[in-house]
Amino acid sequence: MLIFLLFIFLSCTPHHISTTNHNQTHLQPPMLATMDPSELQTLYNIMETLSSDRKWRTTYPNPCKPSSSWAGIECKPGVADSHLHVTRLDFGTPPNPNCKNTATFPSQIFQLPYLQSVFFFQCFTKTKTTISVSKTGFVGSTSLQQLSLRSNPSLVGSIPAELFSSLSSLQILTVSQCRISGTISPEIAKLKSLVHLDLSYNQLNGAIPVELFELRELVGLDLSYNSLTGSVPNTIGQLGMLQKLDLSSNKLTGGVTKSIGKLSSLVFMALSNNGFHGKLPVELANLKELEYLIMDNNPMSVELPIEFSQLPKLQELRLANSDYSGEIPASFSRLSNLTTLSLQNNRLTGNIPMGIANLSHIYHLNLSKNSLSGEIPFDSGFLKRLGKNLDLSENGELCLNPLQAHECAKLGVDVCNRSNTRVGSMSSMVKPLKTSQVMVVGISRVTLFLCFLLSVY
Ligand SMILES: *[C@@H]1O[C@H](CO)[C@@H](O)[C@H](O)[C@H]1NC(C)=O
Ligand SMILES: *[C@@H]1O[C@H](CO)[C@@H](O)[C@H](O)[C@H]1NC(C)=O
Ligand SMILES: *[C@@H]1O[C@H](CO)[C@@H](O)[C@H](O)[C@H]1NC(C)=O
Ligand SMILES: *[C@@H]1O[C@H](CO)[C@@H](O)[C@H](O)[C@H]1NC(C)=O
Ligand SMILES: *[C@@H]1O[C@H](CO)[C@@H](O)[C@H](O)[C@H]1NC(C)=O
Repeated sequence: MLIFLLFIFLSCTPHHISTTNHNQTHLQPPMLATMDPSELQTLYNIMETLSSDRKWRTTYPNPCKPSSSWAGIECKPGVADSHLHVTRLDFGTPPNPNCKNTATFPSQIFQLPYLQSVFFFQCFTKTKTTISVSKTGFVGSTSLQQLSLRSNPSLVGSIPAELFSSLSSLQILTVSQCRISGTISPEIAKLKSLVHLDLSYNQLNGAIPVELFELRELVGLDLSYNSLTGSVPNTIGQLGMLQKLDLSSNKLTGGVTKSIGKLSSLVFMALSNNGFHGKLPVELANLKELEYLIMDNNPMSVELPIEFSQLPKLQELRLANSDYSGEIPASFSRLSNLTTLSLQNNRLTGNIPMGIANLSHIYHLNLSKNSLSGEIPFDSGFLKRLGKNLDLSENGELCLNPLQAHECAKLGVDVCNRSNTRVGSMSSMVKPLKTSQVMVVGISRVTLFLCFLLSVY
């Protein structure tokens, strides 16, 4: 696209100049396709550090020139001068050049004064290397807007604090699926323009620095799959623009801070696989934009909060394996946009609220491994719609209306007898059988037989 525009620019400019701008005709066209010699030298050094794909210097004596430019590099004409400048480097994703096995992090990228975006994908996979800044420091520091280092398993060490203090224009920082370790430096607060921060799938440890929450422009924050410890500071409430928060799969502990209720733009929140516990704050009800609340595997040890039912846009609510007790609030039936409700493997008791059957968008409902009881409130239309995505198994006391009895084998629950109590224990079918359980198996066979009979009628 850019090349195409450049082409148009090049083919139109002389004509334009010749008719309206005679005084510059001698200056612009010949200079336009050339690069500053030192910038060109830096670019070749970077290419040679990363790729043995081609003999860059001989194959591309003028790499920015539209007719000879290579995939993986983008150039733009300077505003202040008539040279072409490297603005984007993209390695590892075809058709862009891939990286050689001995590729190491090219610290010279910070010397390219007009560089705006850098993408290194699966670039550092064999040779250990660290994110480093060359001794001469940053030249292009004020121009870089996006730095994306994804899926580089040989990228180790910490992110140098120097990087944070120098890249004042950076809007997107992705260092994901690498082997970055150490703590997140408080200096990160200096990335004043940052909109997206993704440090997921690394080996970061220590606490989340409070300074991180000074980045008021943040829209996306993903620190998932690290080893971060401590609690979530209540200054997180300062991130009023935040739409995505993913802190899942860390070692975070403590309660969920009530200031989370100030994140009124939040659409996606994932806090799964941590050590969060205790009552969720009532302020949670302020998250009126929230569509995804993913919070499996935390030792919460509380009742299911009714605040969840005040999140009108909620589509997915996942709270499995989190030691929730008490009943499923009847008010959950207000979540009219809910598509997925995962409450399996908790200690929930009582009946399944009638209103759950009214959730017209739901297609995945897992209530297995609880202590729910009573008649299942779903009609055959509902049962048919969810099919295999409905799991009510391993709830000793749930039973099915005889009218839907043909579904009972599939659901792993029994038919209720006339007074709405169960006949036998189907749940024993899924446990390993011992000789001492022959009697129980006998009862289950009776149930199965009954199911069969009822389905015939
Ligand atoms: C040269 O062009 C500029 C605009 O591009 C104009 O402002 C200036 O007056 C011109 N000078 C002469 C000598 O024509
Ligand atoms: C449910 O989702 C639809 C489409 O995404 C949206 O237009 C509607 O406002 C949502 N309902 C509520 C109660 O927010
Ligand atoms: C379910 O929906 C029906 C029909 O819209 C309504 O009459 C009933 O009160 C609802 N039940 C619950 C528990 O919300
Ligand atoms: C429900 O959860 C259980 C326990 O985690 C899991 O084994 C089962 O596959 C889930 N069922 C469905 C339909 O998602
Ligand atoms: C049905 O439930 C009633 C009340 O709990 C009980 O007395 C009866 O034995 C049950 N019937 C069968 C066939 O299990």
